[in-house]
Amino acid sequence: MRILFIGDIFGKPGRTMVRSHLRQLVARHGIDLTIANGENAAGGFGITPQIAEELFELGIEVITTGNHVWDKRELIDYLNAGLDEPATPARRVLRPANYPAGTPGSGLYQGTTRGGVAYAVINLQGRVFMNSIDDPFRTADALLAQISSRVVIVDMHAEATSEKIALGWYLDGRVTAVIGTHTHVPTADDRVLNKGTAYQTDVGMTGPWQGVIGIQTELIINRFLNGMPTRFEAATGDPRLCAVVIDCDEQTGRARSIERLLICG
Ligand SMILES: [Fe+2]
Repeated sequence: MRILFIGDIFGKPGRTMVRSHLRQLVARHGIDLTIANGENAAGGFGITPQIAEELFELGIEVITTGNHVWDKRELIDYLNAGLDEPATPARRVLRPANYPAGTPGSGLYQGTTRGGVAYAVINLQGRVFMNSIDDPFRTADALLAQISSRVVIVDMHAEATSEKIALGWYLDGRVTAVIGTHTHVPTADDRVLNKGTAYQTDVGMTGPWQGVIGIQTELIINRFLNGMPTRFEAATGDPRLCAVVIDCDEQTGRARSIERLLICG
């Protein structure tokens, strides 16, 4: 089984890259399941129901998010509707599973590929240099206890490399892949860990690279120079698509390989 995981889709440049390249990528790599982090898909801040459904129509099957998940308030009703009607696309938009109890939406999706393979996607968020939320490690333990599918993909949306690497080792042999998101910069540490979990600290951003992690360069430089509050605007230039292809044994859920992709627009 081959899984494509697309890194943080940022604004229109990111969505356009997905529209231009996804079909070819799926065909060329024989992809059975496509997952993407979409928390910045709406102009760099959050995701709307309309954009989520646009991404589903392009071929993405599960969308993960992170700290920007509530930037667009209309997503709250959409996530709750997904919980009420599990067959709707809304159920395939996740928020981090380790948000406090009572938070709208879900951090776990369990589905079946077109080829009939059961899989699960878990969305987690880190706590180092980020908001204080529940423990992602123990949340993963609790979710894994209730998942029967062998193929399990984890999006660890986190700032600190150490926290992501630690989670990779913690889940090694228990999940198919731990893929990091949030920093928007792809790391060169893609590998299969000792017990068969594919790992990368950050998959990188699918969006405008001519900027500072998605935002217009001058705004961020000025922010560093004078510390004044600034309204951030999404950058536009040099769109790129960052992703990984994970090949795994669908019987055991163990990864055979992970390959890093970087496509320039
Ligand atoms: Fe983020």
